[in-house]
Amino acid sequence: RKKVTINTLRSLHQKQEPITMITAHDFPSAHVADHAGMDMILVGDSLAMVALGMQDTSEVLLEEMILHCRSVSRATKSAFTIGDLPMGSYEIAPEQALESAIKIVKEGRVQAVKLEGGLDMAPTIQRITKAGIPVLGHVGLTPQRQNALGGFRVQGKTTGGALKVLEDALAVQEAGCFAVVLEAVPAEVASLVTKKLKIPTIGIGAGNGCSGQVLVQVDMSGNFPPGRFLPKFVKQYGDVWSESMRAIETYKSEVKSRAYPATAHTYPMPAEELQEFER
Ligand code: KIV
Ligand code: NA
Repeated sequence: RKKVTINTLRSLHQKQEPITMITAHDFPSAHVADHAGMDMILVGDSLAMVALGMQDTSEVLLEEMILHCRSVSRATKSAFTIGDLPMGSYEIAPEQALESAIKIVKEGRVQAVKLEGGLDMAPTIQRITKAGIPVLGHVGLTPQRQNALGGFRVQGKTTGGALKVLEDALAVQEAGCFAVVLEAVPAEVASLVTKKLKIPTIGIGAGNGCSGQVLVQVDMSGNFPPGRFLPKFVKQYGDVWSESMRAIETYKSEVKSRAYPATAHTYPMPAEELQEFER
C-alpha cells in the first residue's frame, strides 16, 4: 500500500470515490486500521472517553493527545494521520493554535490537525494552513462546545440552523481546510453542503451524501460492555468486547483447572541434563 497524501485525498474526491476515515488511539488500534486500508486515521479527542475513561473530551490535555498521536503514527505506514487539537489548545488566539499545531505535528508525528468550529475559527485555520500544516475542519455538532450547545444535539434541523452549518463549512473551506467533518446534521443538509463545497466533507451522523465517512473505532468494532449508549448513527460492525471476554474467561478457567499451560507451551530440557539436575 502506498502512503496516502493530501494529493491522494484530492484525487479520491475528484473521482467521487468515498473517503474512509476511522479513529485510533494507540499502536494496536492504528495498526489494524492501517492494515485494513483506511484512507485517513484520526487521533480524535474522543480518546478521552474511549481510551482514558474520562467523562468528556474537555479533560484531555495537548500533552496526552501528543502521546497517543506518537503511538498511532508509529503504526500508520499508509493512512493519512490527523491529530485532534483538544479543548483549550487553540481557542485563545491564532498564535496559540499554531503553536499547538506545530507541537502535535512535530512531537506527535501526524500529518495534519483537526479543530472544531466554523466562521469564528477562520482566522485560526488560516494561520495554521499558511504555516504549511493541513487543517481538517469540524462543523455541525462540535462536542467540545457541548455545554454551550445544550448537549449532544443534532445541528441544522431548522432553516436557520442549516444555513449556519453551510456558512461555517464555507468559512473553513475559504480559510484553507483540506476537508471538513460534518457531525450530526440532517442528511439533506449534509448533501447540500457537500454539493456547495469544493473540498471533501467527511460525515459522522450526516448521511450518505458526504464525500467520506468517519466513525469512532471503539464504537463501530463493538469494543465496549453491553448496554452502553450508542448514538443513532453508529453501525456496530463487530463484537470485539465479546471476543476479548471469551478469550480472557477461557484463559482464566484453564489456569484454574491447570489445563493451561500444556506441554506444548513449555520449554523442554535435554534428558541427560534433567537427570543430572534431578540428582
Ligand atoms: O474525536 C473524535 O473521534 C472526532 C470524530 C468523531 C470526528 O472528532
Ligand atoms: Na474530536
